[in-house]
Amino acid sequence: MSLNTTGIRCSESFVQPTIRRYKKDDGVAVLQLSEKYASWDSTPTEADIQGLHSSEPDFFLVAELDKRIVGFVYGHESRNVPDEVLRRWKATKVGSVEILTVEEEYRRRGIATLLLNRLFAVFGERGIDTVTLSAPADEIGAKELYDKLGFETRGYFLKKKL
Ligand SMILES: CC(C)(COP(=O)(O)OP(=O)(O)OC[C@H]1O[C@@H](n2cnc3c(N)ncnc32)[C@H](O)[C@@H]1OP(=O)(O)O)[C@@H](O)C(=O)NCCC(=O)NCCS
Repeated sequence: MSLNTTGIRCSESFVQPTIRRYKKDDGVAVLQLSEKYASWDSTPTEADIQGLHSSEPDFFLVAELDKRIVGFVYGHESRNVPDEVLRRWKATKVGSVEILTVEEEYRRRGIATLLLNRLFAVFGERGIDTVTLSAPADEIGAKELYDKLGFETRGYFLKKKL
């Protein structure tokens, strides 16, 4: 199966979403997506979303199709990585993927890949050359996605009720 330069499959006639920076008007749609598909155990509030936007607006991207927000990603620069870790990772600056979600009916069209690749391009413009993230163990699709994009699993997060 061939891919065009955007990563969208050529053999299927999916309309390509626009990937652009988050705007305040997107807040309701982004909040709804967060509530529907929250990973881990907490959902960002409206205040969290506006806070994320004001702290690092370049790293907050949405996928828009037919005037509808069908996915978003929010990244962050990790500023407190110890020098020893940077040396071991051969990293200059580290960024993280904090939240990534695509509306269910629009999945498997390459939208998360488009969002992440755009985020990584913006990271690169800021000198970020290494990316980390955590994903819930039950999000099998997310693990497959990150494997495909070349992420290496470095650990597991464990929990037990006492
Ligand atoms: C994970 C998620 C963001 C993927 O979005 P998406 O737009 O469907 O991802 P893409 O279309 O870019 O997928 C790219 C590749 O990842 C893999 N992949 C994605 N979802 C998959 C799934 N459910 N099962 C298996 N592989 C999957 C495939 O290799 C896929 O390529 P292919 O479709 O050519 O086989 C989406 O399923 C989602 O929002 N899940 C709920 C929230 C979540 O898990 N967020 C990430 C937490 S860190």
